[in-house]
Amino acid sequence: MSYDKNGDDVVTNNSNNPHIMEIAEARFTRRQTLFGGLSATTVALFGSMSLAGCDDDNNNSGTPATEEPIPTPKLSFVPVAKSTADVLTVPDGYTARVLFGLGDPIKDAISAWKGDGSEDGASYANRAGDHHDGMYFFGLAATGSTPDPKASERGILCMNHEALTTTYLHAAGETRVDGKRTVADECVKEMNAHGVSVIEVKKNASGQFAVIKGGLNRRVTTFTEMELTGPVRGDSQVVTKFSNDGTKTRGTVNNCANGYTPWGTYLTCEENWAGYFARAVDDNTKRTEAGLAKQVTSLARYGNANNSSTGLPPAGRHLWETAGTSDDFARWITGVTGASATADFRNVINTYGFVVEIDPYDTTKTPKKRTALGRFAHEGCWPGPVKAGKPIVFYMGDDNRGDYVYKFVSTANWDPADANKADRMAVGDKYMDSGKLYVAKFNENGTGEWVELSFDKNGLNAANTTYPFANQADVCLNSRLAGDAVGATKMDRPEWGAVNPINGEVYLTLTNNSNRGVSSSQPKNAANPRNYDADTGSTTASLNGNVNGHIIRWHEDGDNPAATTFEWDIYLFGSRSTYPADVNLSGLNANNDLSSPDGLWFDPRGVLWIQTDDGAYTDVTNCMMLAAAPGAVGDGAEITVAGQKTYKAKNPTSDDLRRFLVGPKDCEITGIAMTPDGKTMFVNIQHPGETGDLEDTISHWPDGGTSRPRSATVVVTRNDGGVIGI
Ligand code: FEO
Ligand code: CA
Ligand code: CA
Repeated sequence: MSYDKNGDDVVTNNSNNPHIMEIAEARFTRRQTLFGGLSATTVALFGSMSLAGCDDDNNNSGTPATEEPIPTPKLSFVPVAKSTADVLTVPDGYTARVLFGLGDPIKDAISAWKGDGSEDGASYANRAGDHHDGMYFFGLAATGSTPDPKASERGILCMNHEALTTTYLHAAGETRVDGKRTVADECVKEMNAHGVSVIEVKKNASGQFAVIKGGLNRRVTTFTEMELTGPVRGDSQVVTKFSNDGTKTRGTVNNCANGYTPWGTYLTCEENWAGYFARAVDDNTKRTEAGLAKQVTSLARYGNANNSSTGLPPAGRHLWETAGTSDDFARWITGVTGASATADFRNVINTYGFVVEIDPYDTTKTPKKRTALGRFAHEGCWPGPVKAGKPIVFYMGDDNRGDYVYKFVSTANWDPADANKADRMAVGDKYMDSGKLYVAKFNENGTGEWVELSFDKNGLNAANTTYPFANQADVCLNSRLAGDAVGATKMDRPEWGAVNPINGEVYLTLTNNSNRGVSSSQPKNAANPRNYDADTGSTTASLNGNVNGHIIRWHEDGDNPAATTFEWDIYLFGSRSTYPADVNLSGLNANNDLSSPDGLWFDPRGVLWIQTDDGAYTDVTNCMMLAAAPGAVGDGAEITVAGQKTYKAKNPTSDDLRRFLVGPKDCEITGIAMTPDGKTMFVNIQHPGETGDLEDTISHWPDGGTSRPRSATVVVTRNDGGVIGI
């Protein structure tokens, strides 16, 4: 099956992870009453940087917290029907306008985008990149000079540019001759079209948001210098020709989902970075001869194995390494090509795969790769509830078939005064460079454990047989191998997470997994319980794995985000509404059926927004976004389906789950932000017409006529000026 096409370079976890540890009943018994005494301490509505269950005294919105619980939101709009039309559809009474599309200039000196791929590569250092993805709105005071988390008229949008549709990026598509990129400027354009856009947006005289060429506008690309911080900083395995002391690297790539911090910075997450790097065919041999055999294990686990069956080296995803001999191109060869690590880029791949922190309010600040949060196909990094005197917690998914869910818990306890510091990156140093990394085990009885990934704990030392860990840097660099070693639960491609501001519970999309139950290394388990036929929904024939994905959620024990145990259930099973009941387990109907949930975000009112990146239901509908008002962990029941026990939430109805938006042809909906007043929503439409070519572009969205399609940010408002969704 090819339904999980949009995993970019998603590979699979074929490690011989002892799933017996997953299957064994844990020492816990599932509590029958999950919510006794749960307080719903909340912050004032719509503090744009307010966090779920923020500390009572001082949240980052600058607004005193209230003791009033957030009421369960009531969805108010008319559901949008499924559609395969090449249009963006929003509910009656709403309008969507394009704000910022591929190639749009962010500086005055840059010409307007022409729509024919003719712009040069260098100009893309000051234009919107491609494949808009995760996004966040940071408020600005009316004067534009200072942060104002409550502002809804002016702000900064930070957004990721994950990948490329090179067909439309260049005048005549991508030039390749004999397996080489012969037009270096095309590669420069592609390198610049990745990364992050930081753009100022402001309401104009007619009350509509527009991009302004503000002083804070900047692009962060694969060329941008970055610091490595945390345990990996200075380690021998990140020494390169560019950084002989292993303290910095150049650029970020495949920036997928995102996050933000309570001190006002943006987090961009490197997802499918491994495939961008080439390796010489004899690189495994050379590493082994150099006494670095364990690096061969690491490279294979991260999807950059040498292909010994064909004798071919893995080429980089876009062959950037072939476009020239300067370091701009040579840095994409992660191979032993020189006399030492300071003479080549053998270690450059170890400088990618992190959560990167960016200060949106200060263009002089160098982005920092926060290595303490582990290295994997980072899908996002979402803060848990913030409480004064307690650690800061971040939740993270590793989007790979059969990979893991992680949590980072800071060493430092939160000081509310840090919410408003001028040197935000220094605050990041305090909370993100020292802490404990955990990986999740979802037990068969509905409980879960966070297993600590610290050097010399849980077998993570030189005695580990698969991969001998040398120190904490080695554990952080090889989080996947650490997760394998401790028996973490293999999940159905962990994508975005979101934290419910009503009760602090954490939701995480598991987009789909063609290997679930199909591959012997990924049998069904309670947290990933489905395997069925993509055509009929049969659970007995032509099994294609978890075709439509699901959304898992958990409640940390003791309402403590830093807890090491939790209770979980499955909030929602993606499915065609026409599938049998033992696949359409959530009872979805025409108003709310969906496939391959990916983007996920709770707005401050407790509305859960679900975005799809799908290839399994596209015969019926383009990708979409839904709004939900979910309940809480444990509001459903234990069920057994096709022999597998699991824990399912109460079924949604059209009242508390309905479709809000359907995108144009061949797109993914990903990335969402909202102004603090709840009246303006920003949504990213990624890669319309992705599978087309210049003769048949499939889509002409958003510019219409005979135009080339392009990724773009849209602004959604309600025609009566009211709050969105409720
Ligand atoms: Fe970039 Fe896993 O989506
Ligand atoms: Ca994603
Ligand atoms: Ca995706």
